[in-house]
Amino acid sequence: MEPARNPTDRNIAGEYELSSYKAEVARELSGYLADSYLLYVKTQAFHWNVVGQHFISLHKLFEEQYRDLSEAIDECAERIRALGFKAPGSFAEFTEIASLKEETNSSSMSDREMLDRLVNDHKSLCQKAAAVIGMAEKRNDKVTADFLIRRQQFHEKSRWMLDSHLEKPDDLGLPPRGIN
Ligand SMILES: [Fe+2]
Repeated sequence: MEPARNPTDRNIAGEYELSSYKAEVARELSGYLADSYLLYVKTQAFHWNVVGQHFISLHKLFEEQYRDLSEAIDECAERIRALGFKAPGSFAEFTEIASLKEETNSSSMSDREMLDRLVNDHKSLCQKAAAVIGMAEKRNDKVTADFLIRRQQFHEKSRWMLDSHLEKPDDLGLPPRGIN
C-alpha cells in the first residue's frame, strides 16, 4: 500500500522550486539591467559626441533610444524587487555582471563606428531577452515574459533604425531639390 502523501511536503517542494526559479530569473534580469545601463550610458555619450553630416538625425535618434533605455532600466529593477530580490545599483556592480563592453572612447569615434557598436549591442540584448523569455514562459511567469517581449521589440526596432543609417550613409548628403 502506498504511504499517504503529506501535502506539506509537496508544498515545501513547490515553494522551493518557485523560489529557485525566482532567484534564477532575478539573476538573469540583473544581468539584463546591467547591460541596459551600459547601453544607456553609451548611447547618451554618443548623443553628446556624435559629429558629421548626419549629426542632427543621429543626435535625435540616440536621444530617443537612451530615454527608452532609462525607463526600461527602472521597470527591470522594479521587477527584480517584485520577485523578492535587491537590484544592482552601482557602476561597480553593473560592470561586474554585464556582458556588454563599456565605451570609454566615444569622443574620438566616427558616427559609423558608433552605429556599428550600437547595432551589435542591441543584437546581444535581443538574444539575451529571448533566452530569459523562454525561461519565464516555461514557468508561466507572464509579467517577466511580457516585459522582455517589449524589450525585444525595442531592440529590434533600434537595430533597424541604426542599420538604416549604415545601409547608405551618403544618401542624406544629396544636394537639396532644385539645385541640379
Ligand atoms: Fe541632449
